[in-house]
Amino acid sequence: MFPEHRPRRLRTTPAMRRLVSETTLRPRQLILPLFVAEGAEEPRPIASMPGVVQHTRETLRKAAAEAVEAGVGGLMLFGIPATRDAVGSAATDADGILNVALRDLRADLGDDTVLMADTCLDEFTDHGHCGVLDPSGVVDNDATLERYAEMALAQAEAGAHMLGPSGMMDGQVGVIRRALDDAGYTDTGIIAYSAKYASAFYGPFREAVDSQLTGDRKTYQQDPGNAREALREIELDVAEGADMVMVKPALAYLDVVKAAAESSPVPVAAYNISGEYSMVEGAAANGWVDRRSTILEVLTSIRRAGADLVLTYWAAEAAAWLD
Ligand code: PBG
Repeated sequence: MFPEHRPRRLRTTPAMRRLVSETTLRPRQLILPLFVAEGAEEPRPIASMPGVVQHTRETLRKAAAEAVEAGVGGLMLFGIPATRDAVGSAATDADGILNVALRDLRADLGDDTVLMADTCLDEFTDHGHCGVLDPSGVVDNDATLERYAEMALAQAEAGAHMLGPSGMMDGQVGVIRRALDDAGYTDTGIIAYSAKYASAFYGPFREAVDSQLTGDRKTYQQDPGNAREALREIELDVAEGADMVMVKPALAYLDVVKAAAESSPVPVAAYNISGEYSMVEGAAANGWVDRRSTILEVLTSIRRAGADLVLTYWAAEAAAWLD
């Protein structure tokens, strides 16, 4: 008798396939990134991210409540300030848009969700870099750390449960952990963007936050060709006190997600970023791929690679499908 082995037997019926399915995709594993713009009177569509908007304070509250209702595991908040300067003052101002919005959402949602904030200066600086610049125009690591510590305190005070340092400065997790602890915020956690690559897939995000960046982030974000470095970054962040680590982007870096999942002692998140979202939306809008099944395949694959959590702009929609 040939073939002797018939793997197709386990694929014969939907019930059989469901029985042997290895990878779970649950609403609680999805984190929804949200944008809120200072002074916006209407939600502003982001052309390169169809379906995603810069929220007003009011529409943000509604979108956040709906996402929590749909069962998502958490929210990651980004702010777009009305004015920017060289040091990103609006990031540390208690009345800055991100901090105000955090306060709104914490008041509305309490502990019903895990409220996270992007702890990075690029949305707030007039040069668009993730830190402050030295006189020669290079991002000054240690001067930036001082700003991150201040920003972390402002976000913790505003009610964030977890902070997401995404600037790839050396020592950022340690300096934030120390600042939080010294101020008594010992329960405020850190989801560290540990292995963050200098990726072209961030393109649409730059529009999403009206980024002022010219040039690139290659002196602080990782080279796409390097994998070993990602494990070193994760090890350092864990040693500095990260409660969770993240790999970003996700799709072009699933090998890194897998390696991180195999070695990390803390939960691993992967960020299914703007360009990954836009690729699928663009193809689906053209009728080139089936939107829903492509989205679920993308999210399942990131889970299969080993990510415990997935940050995705589809979080609320996918959570509703999965429910
Ligand atoms: C930095 C930050 C970026 C993203 C999340 N946090 C942009 C960057 O590093 O250039 C990108 C997210 C996405 O592309 O969806 N504050």
